[in-house]
Amino acid sequence: MKKSIKLLLSALLIASFVLGVSCSKKDGGATSAKVENKNKPVVFYNRQPSDPTSGKIDTAAMSWNDSTYYVGFDAKGGGTVQGEMIAEYLKTQTKNIDRNNDGIIGYVLCIGDVGHNDSNARTEGIRRALGTWNGTTDPTNTKIGSIVIEGKTYKVKELEGKAMTGNDGSTWNANAATDAMSGWATKFGKQIDLVVSNNDGMAMGCLQASNYPQGVPIFGYDANADAIEAIGQGKLTGTVSQNVDAQATATLQVLRNLMDGISGKEAVEKGITTPDKYGNKISAPTVYKEDEKALLALNAAVTAKNWQEYKAGNRDKGVKQTDAPKKKVLLTVYNSSDNFLSSSYVPALEYYAPLLGIDLNIVQGDGQNENSCTDRFDNLNAYDAYAINMVKTNSAADYLNKLKY
Ligand code: BGC
Ligand code: CA
Repeated sequence: MKKSIKLLLSALLIASFVLGVSCSKKDGGATSAKVENKNKPVVFYNRQPSDPTSGKIDTAAMSWNDSTYYVGFDAKGGGTVQGEMIAEYLKTQTKNIDRNNDGIIGYVLCIGDVGHNDSNARTEGIRRALGTWNGTTDPTNTKIGSIVIEGKTYKVKELEGKAMTGNDGSTWNANAATDAMSGWATKFGKQIDLVVSNNDGMAMGCLQASNYPQGVPIFGYDANADAIEAIGQGKLTGTVSQNVDAQATATLQVLRNLMDGISGKEAVEKGITTPDKYGNKISAPTVYKEDEKALLALNAAVTAKNWQEYKAGNRDKGVKQTDAPKKKVLLTVYNSSDNFLSSSYVPALEYYAPLLGIDLNIVQGDGQNENSCTDRFDNLNAYDAYAINMVKTNSAADYLNKLKY
């Protein structure tokens, strides 16, 4: 009896050894048992490790190990798309755009997060397109711009720009935008000809203000499902798609590649610009910025003309169910109540992860402190890779330090 148990045990040992070896061969040796946490793949997404004031990339974080990347979208290009969409719209408004006939197009701006590259790129893109750019993203520092509508030159004035921080300190806060809009409507009345917001959550927040000046055009950014519907209903004038499906699949695909032992340039190409070994390839175009180790999706303007194409549920057909070996990824979300992340990004991740053989554990923070995420980093050894969305863009070290040992 005892002998047979011993035999069984040694057979099991041999079997697990053989399996272990063949498995590490199969996926390039990236098994959690052998790789130390500090050498595992890390992808930062949506919030690029950078200095909140200068926007300078946090190169220490980005060179944490050879398998560290950022996946986002072309923030600068997106700011330009947003600015041009607004300027183009104004140029077609021959009647009623100047509500008080003072020759000035007055607008208010919801900024979002003054320490976030995306927010700053949009502020700059809008102000450049409207001529109010004074060389800085400072909420209060603008100049008078101008725009020609049907041969008539109008001045353009940013009546006020505001960060939109919630009572709890969280950024991009939609409720703060509702309050600000209601204050602006009272303070500026008919001077407001246009409302611009650096994201859809805040734009929808503005529309919630009971005294919102009816009929005044309003623009957002993100192409969240509710914003697309609002364009269809004529409530929102336009938004910008930062292609959340391309970003969510790219975040997962880069991790998948790295966990499969693919390195260097191929890690940001397989399944992205060329098919991977499972037959997947993202359909939307992306660009790779080598100096920032950043893989970026491109932006597109969404207006009454094309909103139907951006309706919810249009998933990328280039990404299909595969037999990729199962891997575990720990992923953080800086704020569980961020509109864009909760209504667009997380559902996309949840859709694509199983197709790529990725078992995601999502930890959602409170938008105020990094430890709302890092305190819940249990059993880090159990994961094959990590995906990080920081609360503050200069907090990468708070997460990476946890992976040191
Ligand atoms: C989105 C915002 C969002 C932010 C969160 C941005 O790219 O446009 O809507 O609040 O990311 O980090
Ligand atoms: Ca006016």
